[in-house]
Amino acid sequence: MGNLNSELFAAIDSVADGANEHDLAVSVQELMRKYRGRVDPRDIVLASDTDVIAYAAYRLPATFAAARSAFETAAAAMPGFAPTTHLDVGGGMGASVWAASAAWPSLRSTTVLEQSAPAIKLGKRLARRSTDTAVQGSEWERFRLTGAVPDGPRVDLATMSYVLNELTPQVQEEVVRSLAERARTVVLLEPGTPEGYERIITARGHLIAEGMSVAAPCPHDGTCPITPGEDWCHFAERLNRSGIQRRLKFGTLGFEDEKYAFVAATSEPVERPASRVLRHPQKRKGLVSLRLCTTDGIEDRVVSKRQGETYRAARKTDWGDPWPPLEEADR
Ligand SMILES: C[S@@+](CC[C@H](N)C(=O)[O-])C[C@H]1O[C@@H](n2cnc3c(N)ncnc32)[C@H](O)[C@@H]1O
Repeated sequence: MGNLNSELFAAIDSVADGANEHDLAVSVQELMRKYRGRVDPRDIVLASDTDVIAYAAYRLPATFAAARSAFETAAAAMPGFAPTTHLDVGGGMGASVWAASAAWPSLRSTTVLEQSAPAIKLGKRLARRSTDTAVQGSEWERFRLTGAVPDGPRVDLATMSYVLNELTPQVQEEVVRSLAERARTVVLLEPGTPEGYERIITARGHLIAEGMSVAAPCPHDGTCPITPGEDWCHFAERLNRSGIQRRLKFGTLGFEDEKYAFVAATSEPVERPASRVLRHPQKRKGLVSLRLCTTDGIEDRVVSKRQGETYRAARKTDWGDPWPPLEEADR
């Protein structure tokens, strides 16, 4: 875990330590209930100081971990991309602000648009504890999206994590299309549910229609080979739960797996892998089965021990990785 992770988790702990744990637990239950389904776009879910501390303690570590993982996958597909300016929309308490700086240390300035005043207050408080330039100096603007993002200078990177679910389909389209105009690269994340995937795949279509290319996770700009309703493209990131996270979620496990769907699209040059691993590889004695998204659709490939180097690479491969691994492709 890098420096930004520990700085963020220390900042969250210090804020949560000063709050009443019973009130936080009540708020967590209410937030979990609201986020379980589709959020009413008229509702401001993060309404009070207790709500935002509760979200920071039980949810932000997971949205941060998912965003960092998605951004790192996108960064690997754009090795020449070194963004300095960043716009994060629906930033909450800044999960994607911290995650983007972890994936792209070149970032120097970040602007966050967010509708909730308590979220902005806490997001700033957490960010000021970071030693990273872009995180610490992040600018927070209170703004309620009802369509396109406001006009402003073009940015290198725009991100929106776990927000589409709180917007109407029409606003989702207007925001996404406007981000494609404002930014050189756009990364969108949603929960790794069938509905989250469907919002991402719709948004992916809007980004391509605006002239962008997909950098990740897809190895192509064509139609997604997955049939909505039958399956959904998503990934998972495992994170250790802090003590407060365990207590607030009444969980006993020391870790959780955050499932997420995402798309990164860009007008920058991309180096897409030939294919991407769509499931946990099945590793049996002498065989590894990989489910792959390729330029020709979904393919199930079995790699056997007889394939030597390729087999050893397959043993090390994880869900979400490029296939073949980049070193392997270069050989
Ligand atoms: C589930 S939280 C995600 C926060 C953060 N991006 C993260 O990944 O942890 C959704 C955020 O979007 C914000 N949001 C929802 N609808 C919005 C709107 N119409 N305009 C601005 N912000 C909005 C909410 O206030 C909240 O902070």
